[in-house]
Parts: sequence; structure tokens; C-alpha cells
Amino acid sequence: MKTIIGTSVEEAVHWLKRGEPVALPTETVYGLAAPLFSEETIRKIYSVKQRPANNPLIVHVLNFEQLSEIAETTPLVQALTEWFWPGPLTLVLKKKACVSNLVTAEQTSVAVRCPQASLFRQAIVLTGEPLVAPSANRFQHVSPTTAMHVLNDLGGRIPYILDGGACTFGLESTILSLLDEAQPTLLRYGPIATEVLEAFLKRPLITPSGVISEQKPHLSPGLYKKHYSPQTPLYLVGNLADYVPPSRYKEIFEAHAAHVFLFPPSRPLREEECVLSPNRDLNEAASNLFDCLQTLDTQGWQSIWTEAAPNEGIGRALNDRLTRAAHVDLRD
Ligand code: TXA
Ligand code: MG
Repeated sequence: MKTIIGTSVEEAVHWLKRGEPVALPTETVYGLAAPLFSEETIRKIYSVKQRPANNPLIVHVLNFEQLSEIAETTPLVQALTEWFWPGPLTLVLKKKACVSNLVTAEQTSVAVRCPQASLFRQAIVLTGEPLVAPSANRFQHVSPTTAMHVLNDLGGRIPYILDGGACTFGLESTILSLLDEAQPTLLRYGPIATEVLEAFLKRPLITPSGVISEQKPHLSPGLYKKHYSPQTPLYLVGNLADYVPPSRYKEIFEAHAAHVFLFPPSRPLREEECVLSPNRDLNEAASNLFDCLQTLDTQGWQSIWTEAAPNEGIGRALNDRLTRAAHVDLRD
């Protein structure tokens, strides 16, 4: 199949209506979309991504009204959507009967978010129904933040990639489960920071490290330890400036290794070094992370060395993705 990159929402929707999943930009990462009520197209998402059928998908809606047609809502849900939607917050709620088991992997809950990106919103309007969309990458690969990333991973498998430029946030949405409102549970760190949700809800959240052992992994594969991986082995350290590796890693650290700094070091960069945020801004670092990993992956390095972010705000989401991407975690 020939894959075209274009800028026509109409053409993207034309393919959706013909039963072919297409890649669409959101403010987080590119998604591989299908209409919520087209089981045949949704099945193709699983085969294109080579994703196990027990991984549920996120449904994308235009607004609270569309949410209430597919999931049970409460005053708390409404308050959260009024404050955080449209935007990168996914809510896990009890599903209504119209949502197929194919979307939810046989669960009685459904994950829903309301994207900000205008091209994606136009696609929902023109399709006339919500769109399901996992990230537009093959299973366990790095999520795409540009149309070219999608082409590199899914080229030849889908007919159309709608090019909306680079994604603003560059990390997948925050996922919050409200199945038990007495115990709101964070299932995935993302652009909406834990602290912000806790302030809004006026209570501490149960966080992913707390749920990982209790939940069956397939309930939220975003919790799989290894999930966002470049092909090149990645080593995670606390701080790269003046880093001295343990002796058994010395050779790997020095032999054709790429070094990824969060912020610019206080000396000129060497050829093998790059920086996630020239402006010393964690949001900028997060938005560049996947692009940086994808680029380094094509450059033939033998290893990639990255440093962790401060564990606050979006830094938690950044560290979460880095930990999962890491081949070896060398933080003390
Ligand atoms: O930012 C995003 O959320 C992107 C864009 C395209 O919207 N989508 C995305 O989808 O990251 P995906 O499929 O890569 O990740 C979906 C995550 C998985 O970790 C899945 O387990 C979780 O959502 N999920 C979906 N339905 C769920 C449910 N009913 N209960 C718990 N987790 C669920
Ligand atoms: Mg994904």
C-alpha cells in the first residue's frame, strides 16, 4: 500500500469512511485513527500496529456531550472536563453499551479524551462520530511526534498521514481512572502534572508506581515496564555533566555513544552530544524527547546515554518515558 503524507482533513476522512485507518496529529503524539462504530476499521488498527488485542484503545470526543453518550458521567467528571478539556487528560470511566468490546479489550471501562488539535477535531466532526486512536507507532516502538516518524514506522501499512507539524506536548496524555471516585488513580504520567490534578481534586492520587503491582498488566499496557523503546540501547543516568560510568560500562560510554543532555552544559557541546531544551524548559525537553530518540536511532550510534529530569511537573512524565525506554538504569 502506498502511504501519502498530506494536509487535507477531507482526504483523511475519505479513507476513514472507506474503512482504512489513517494517522492524525494530536497535541500529544500522532494517533492511528478509526471511527468508534466501525469494528472492521478498528481491527485493522490492531494489525497495522501489531498490537495485542488485549490492549484497550482511547476514544477521542469533541466535548462533554459526546462523552456522555459513550460513558457514565458524574458531577466530578463534568468538573474535570470543564477545567482540563480540550487537552491532554484521558479519563477512564464506566462504559455505555454502545462501546464495543473490541475498543475496551472486554473491559467494562473506557478511556476517553478530548483533543485540542484542530485538525483532529475537524476529523471527528467530518466523520460524524468519535474516533479511537492509539499512538501511530508499531507496538513497543517510540511514539511519533511528526508525520515523518509515522512514515518511518508505518509506511506501506496505511494510506494517509495527515501532517499537522510537530506535536505541541510530544508526550502521550495523562491517564486518570475515576472508576472509584473515592480513589482517583493515575494510570499514566503525562503533560497534565500530578500536582495539578491533586490540587484540583483536593486529594492525593494513587500513582502508577502504586498500581503497577496490583493491576493485571494488560489493563493498562502503558504501565508495561518496557514500552517506549528506541532500537539503540539506552542508558539512563542521573546527571551527564562530568559523568563517570562504572568501570564495566566505561567502554560503552565512550565507544560511538550519543549523549543527550536535558539542558545545555556550561561548556561547548561535543559532536556526540545534543540537548533536549536549549531554553532550559522542561516542557520543551518533553516535546523534543521522542524526536531526539527517533533521530539518534537512525544515526548508527552503538548506545544512547540520557540524563533524568527533576521529578516534578512534566519532569515525572519525562522520567517515566526515559525509564521505560532505558536498557539499563544507572541512576543511583
Ligand atoms: O495522547 C494520547 O493519549 C495518544 C493520542 C493519540 O491521543 N494516544 C495514546 O494511545 O497514547 P495508546 O493506545 O498508545 O495508549 C493508550 C493507553 C494504554 O496504556 C491503555 O492501556 C490505556 O490507554 N487504556 C485504554 N483504555 C483503558 C481502560 N479502559 N482502562 C485502563 N487503561 C486504558
Ligand atoms: Mg502507544
